[in-house]
Amino acid sequence: MRKAETENLARVVIERCRKLASFSEDAGGIRRTFLSPAMHEVHAEVGSWLKPLGAEVRIDAAGNLRALYPGSASAQRLMIGSHLDTVPNAGAFDGILGVVLAVALLESLAPRMLPFGVEVVGFSEEEGVRFGIPFIGSRALVGRLDDELLNRQDANGISVRSAIEKFGLNPAEIPQARIDDDVSAFLEFHVEQGPILEEIGQPLAAVEAIAGQTRMDFAFAGRSNHAGTTPMHLRRDAMAGAAEWITEVEKLATNTPGLVATVGSAKIIPGATNVIAREAWLSLDVRHAADPVRMKAVQDLTGRAEEIARRRGLTVSATTRVNQEAVSMDPTLVSEIEQAIQKTAARPYRMVSGAGHDAMVMAEKVPAAMIFLRTPGGISHDPSESVAEDDVAKAIECGLHLLEQLAASSLFQTRTQRA
Ligand code: HGY
Ligand code: MN
Ligand code: MN
Repeated sequence: MRKAETENLARVVIERCRKLASFSEDAGGIRRTFLSPAMHEVHAEVGSWLKPLGAEVRIDAAGNLRALYPGSASAQRLMIGSHLDTVPNAGAFDGILGVVLAVALLESLAPRMLPFGVEVVGFSEEEGVRFGIPFIGSRALVGRLDDELLNRQDANGISVRSAIEKFGLNPAEIPQARIDDDVSAFLEFHVEQGPILEEIGQPLAAVEAIAGQTRMDFAFAGRSNHAGTTPMHLRRDAMAGAAEWITEVEKLATNTPGLVATVGSAKIIPGATNVIAREAWLSLDVRHAADPVRMKAVQDLTGRAEEIARRRGLTVSATTRVNQEAVSMDPTLVSEIEQAIQKTAARPYRMVSGAGHDAMVMAEKVPAAMIFLRTPGGISHDPSESVAEDDVAKAIECGLHLLEQLAASSLFQTRTQRA
């Protein structure tokens, strides 16, 4: 593809991401949670780009957008995509860019067919905002969208199952969303969401592993009382206990190489200026590339919460919502990505992802790998998240080289042919 064409397509990709960002639950910002009404608009818009290419577009029972562009020879297919949902007050590129780039690759390819099919996938939910559990969409593809998760309720008491029904889908058809042996690999383009690529001055990276993550809820409980009449030594202040623990979380992560730990949300009850807090509900997010380090940190932080509670006459309960192990990306695909990056005249670079991604779920069933694009300012999960047009052009170039390399590889012969 000529340079001018790639640059023009890169501009279109960014414009499309910004168009999809306008489909939001919030008037003043980007928020698109699991199967919210805005997701219908996203499905229609992305489908309108894919149908003219001859792709067969459908929405599976978990709300994932699935679009199969046929191959000329093998029944095998390559899946390329990312997630369509967002965090609250999000940027316009986290997740979405990976779907829009997949569409751009097909547009550059059509009407030519590769020896294998290419299925674009837009996952319905990766962030875990509405139900507190991430990866609902990709779990359906690997057969892990189970009844426990389907019965989980959001803040309004609506279950995942009812959300699916309200969206006009049939939960009984979730088993049909599973991928089977005809999927040979999964690729995900995604913004890095951090400062590394900007620091080393490179546009792209091959992700070699995705850090494991633990998400928990900690509830400190004491006794509410009058803020004016209760002497300090007679208090059982849940907020003060929680605050002491939050500084312990930060201290442990700062002193443990490669560990990040975050208390991102807090709910205080009763939450009045002149009332000593009775309850403090905190979230905890702990990540590390090595599972034993992460698990030890979780154990230490749980122990510190219990010690602080005991000393302050509080109680504390800890509930684990997510325990996602670190996942290595497929080494063959990682090296194919590095070769493709090299062909764009960028320096191939491998890195670990601190953010979780659907690729870590897809890797349970198929060889999976990711290509990161530089994040200007290293800012993500924020409206100022951005991506450079030149880097998007490089990603398109890299993706087209990658498709040619995979077409020449044995990866897409049917699994029996390879046996
Ligand atoms: O939180 C994450 O790791 C990702 O943005 N879902
Ligand atoms: Mn995200
Ligand atoms: Mn993401």
